[in-house]
Order: sequence, then C-alpha cells, then structure tokens
Amino acid sequence: MPSIGWLDSLNGMRSRLERTCSKLDSFLQELIDEHLNPNRPESMNGDIVGIMLQLRQEQSTSFDLTQDHIKAMLMAQAEIRGAVGNKDIVNEDDIQKLPCLKAIVKETFRLYPSAPLSVPRQTLANCIINGHEIQSNSIVYTNVWGIGRDPEYWENPNEFLPERCLNSSVDMKGKDFQLIPFGAGRRGCPGYSLVLAMVEVGLANLLYSFDWELRFGIKKDDIDTQVLPGLTMPNKNDLPLPAKNVYA
Ligand code: HEM
Repeated sequence: MPSIGWLDSLNGMRSRLERTCSKLDSFLQELIDEHLNPNRPESMNGDIVGIMLQLRQEQSTSFDLTQDHIKAMLMAQAEIRGAVGNKDIVNEDDIQKLPCLKAIVKETFRLYPSAPLSVPRQTLANCIINGHEIQSNSIVYTNVWGIGRDPEYWENPNEFLPERCLNSSVDMKGKDFQLIPFGAGRRGCPGYSLVLAMVEVGLANLLYSFDWELRFGIKKDDIDTQVLPGLTMPNKNDLPLPAKNVYA
C-alpha cells in the first residue's frame, strides 16, 4: 500500500531490508569470488556458478553477461526450488490433512493478532452500541486483541490451547465476531486467503524441514512471548530456537 510506505522507514523495515539485501549481495559475491579463485576445487567448475562464469568468460551469450546477471539468476534458482521443489516440500493440498497445524495457526492469531487494533474506521451516522452513543464521523478502533482474550467468549483466554480450535466451527473469516484478526464485514481483509495459505504452508515447511530445539537450560514455560507496542505485534526479544536441518 504505497500511501503508508513511509511506515517502513519509520519502523526500521526499510533499513532492515537494505541490510538484508546487502548481506545477500555479499554472500553471492563471495560465492562468485570463490569460483574465480585459481586454487578452487575441481568440483566448482561444473556447478551452476562455474558454468555461468565460463559463459561470461567465453562471451558466448548474446548479451553482455555481468556478475549482477549471475547473482539475479542464483536468487531466482533458489526461489524456484522453494516454490516447486522436488516433492520434499509441503504444499497447500497437504495442509488440508493437518488439522493440528491449522488449529495452532488459529490460536496464534487469537492471542497475537498481527493488527491488534485493526484498521481505524469512521462512522457514517450516529449509532448506539451497548448503551454508548457514538456520533457520526467518529474514528473507531476495534480492539481485536481484547476481543480474542474476552473471558465471556473464551475459556482460560490467556492460555495457548490450540485444541480448543479442533472441531470448532469458529473461523477467522469475519463471521464469528469473537475471532476477527482479519476484520469483518464489507471492509474485511481481502488478503485473508492469501495470508492464511502463506502462514500455514510456511510454518508447515519450517516444521517439516528442520528440527527445532530450545537452547540448553531454557524450558517451554520460559519462552518469552512479550511483544513490542505498535501497529503490529513483533516479538520484544528474539526467540532462542535454533533450527537443525533434518537432511544435513
Ligand atoms: C497477517 C496478515 C494480515 C492481517 C492480520 C490483516 C488484517 C487486516 C485487517 C484487520 C483489516 C481491517 C479489516 C476491517 O476493518 O474489518 C485489513 C484490511 C485490509 N487488508 Fe489485510 N491483513 C493482512 C494481510 C493482508 C495482505 C497480504 C493483503 C493484500 C494482499 C491485505 C490487504 C488488505 C486491504 C486492501 C485492506 C483494506 C480493505 C478495505 O478497507 O476495504 N492484507 N487487513
């Protein structure tokens, strides 16, 4: 949303993005330099970087193949591997067979809605809600965080209990007002299906491809769930949860 692009500079997102791009660029440059080293191992000559550097040296492409082209192609290869994979990845169809994972995602959105105060809205006419008169043109903030923890609707509201979402008809599409991390009604979030697919497939793959363990000495109950105040709810402190590639 270009009109709120300035937020990215304000919350440090842009500088993080720039730092990440620069790190990625250094990594790719290192990879290319290793392949240009005269003492490189024989095996490097036949891999994708070696072949592209050879094409560049022989000038056998119809355009001037630069190191930037090579870097861009290396990134695209990683993206294609991630998206298409070789059936070593979990896809959207598999997700339908994972009710526990879906319940965990739903319970997480209940306790930690990404937009705790939703998007501000403005009333068009005077109205009365629970005896309170709200005048027209008032800015209304919906406390999605508070609704998700309301003891009137949720038993043990502050506890993370994904099992409550199994066999429950409550969904997050905006028809059940006790769980509205994506809003409700005509102005509800149109990105809902995309986000849910991304979060579920993303989480499933992280769990599928890595073993996760708490750092030595940290117990499950010690996991720090504090969040920073703001428009969204990022973790206050990093989660010490080292990942181990199961294929390594
Ligand atoms: C975790 C991710 C996301 C969350 C939690 C979220 C949540 C929300 C919420 C709470 C609203 C306000 C709904 C209301 O007032 O009833 C909203 C509006 C909106 N969202 Fe999302 N959203 C997410 C991602 C996305 C994505 C990926 C897109 C685009 C592809 C998107 C597009 C929009 C748009 C265009 C609106 C304004 C709709 C309108 O005013 O008519 N959102 N979102």
